[in-house]
Amino acid sequence: MTGIATAPNTRGTAGNAVEVQGIVKHFGTTKALDGVDLTVREGTVLALLGPNGAGKTTLVRVLSTLIKPDAGTAFVGGYDVVRQPKQLRRTIGLTGQYASVDELLSGYENLYLIGRLLDLPRREAKARAVELLERFSLTEAAKRAAKTYSGGMRRRLDLAASMIGRPRVLYLDEPTTGLDPRTRNEVWDEVQRMVAEGSTVLLTTQYMEEAEQLADELTVIDRGRVIANGGIAELKAKVGGQTLQVRPAHPAELPEMARCLHEHGVTTATYSADTGLLAVPIAGEAQLTAVIGVLGGRGFAIAGIDTKVPSLDEVFLAITGKPATAADQPAQPVEETVA
Ligand SMILES: Nc1ncnc2c1ncn2[C@@H]1O[C@H](COP(=O)(O)OP(=O)(O)OP(=O)(O)O)[C@@H](O)[C@H]1O
Ligand SMILES: [Mg+2]
Repeated sequence: MTGIATAPNTRGTAGNAVEVQGIVKHFGTTKALDGVDLTVREGTVLALLGPNGAGKTTLVRVLSTLIKPDAGTAFVGGYDVVRQPKQLRRTIGLTGQYASVDELLSGYENLYLIGRLLDLPRREAKARAVELLERFSLTEAAKRAAKTYSGGMRRRLDLAASMIGRPRVLYLDEPTTGLDPRTRNEVWDEVQRMVAEGSTVLLTTQYMEEAEQLADELTVIDRGRVIANGGIAELKAKVGGQTLQVRPAHPAELPEMARCLHEHGVTTATYSADTGLLAVPIAGEAQLTAVIGVLGGRGFAIAGIDTKVPSLDEVFLAITGKPATAADQPAQPVEETVA
């Protein structure tokens, strides 16, 4: 489902491309969404982070008019998800969690067809298809049926499809889950390009690293509820920012290294004999340099250093005091009301 930006905002607060208030969606006894509020400012990227079953896909489906909420209000591009589904659909592009390309058509045909469905003139639909195939490294495979594509190639084709109409608001539901690092970077580059061209992006992810790369703001959801919300820097500060990992040349020196840092006031340094790593939460570059300086100054031989963004689990632990767990087993599928 892709759309071309057309009409101006008719409602909603100026400056917000997406406005969600008190959205509730229950499936039988499962509270998939249990009163969610969030906003995405025009031209920015919001990452919706949460474990399996948190309600991410359900929210994307509500915001795409694929299912109706039980309560609450949501506006996208100024359009009401319940009252103005047609106009809203023309404003958005969607890459769902599972690939939705036509298996029998080639990559090129898939994209060309979508362009035509969006009322692009033939020549423009063709040019846009060729351009996006190139951007997602699919030019060589352009004429092959999509059923012969690898998982990563399908994902890329799917992303390209959602971008055909240069939608004002783009939803990406776990766009890089299962992709290799190179392809993941390509997707990130493309998302950044879309934003530079003026799109607003709502992205769901289970990777803190992805949120850090792409998002201006982060909303963490768990069991249908927002449990944290704010700027990336703000939330990172809350969860301890990055961790510096130091691998000493002589693992036997780990306790001594930790003691040395404690003496220099770095009381959060810990080590693990199992992994052979010294871990130091760091707030910024200056602290990183200082820690390495202290260790080097004391003559410890260092075999390697690395910095690590906190994982979703660590974020959860910091926010809720408990690890992230997948929500309860799915309820029986419930007949869905399609808007
Ligand atoms: N059609 C449906 N019928 C019954 N239960 C559903 C339906 N759709 C979603 N659910 C339930 O709602 C909850 C939220 O599901 P949702 O797919 O939104 O989670 P998610 O955050 O996208 O998870 P994941 O990371 O695994 O994709 C889950 O408990 C799920 O089983
Ligand atoms: Mg999902």
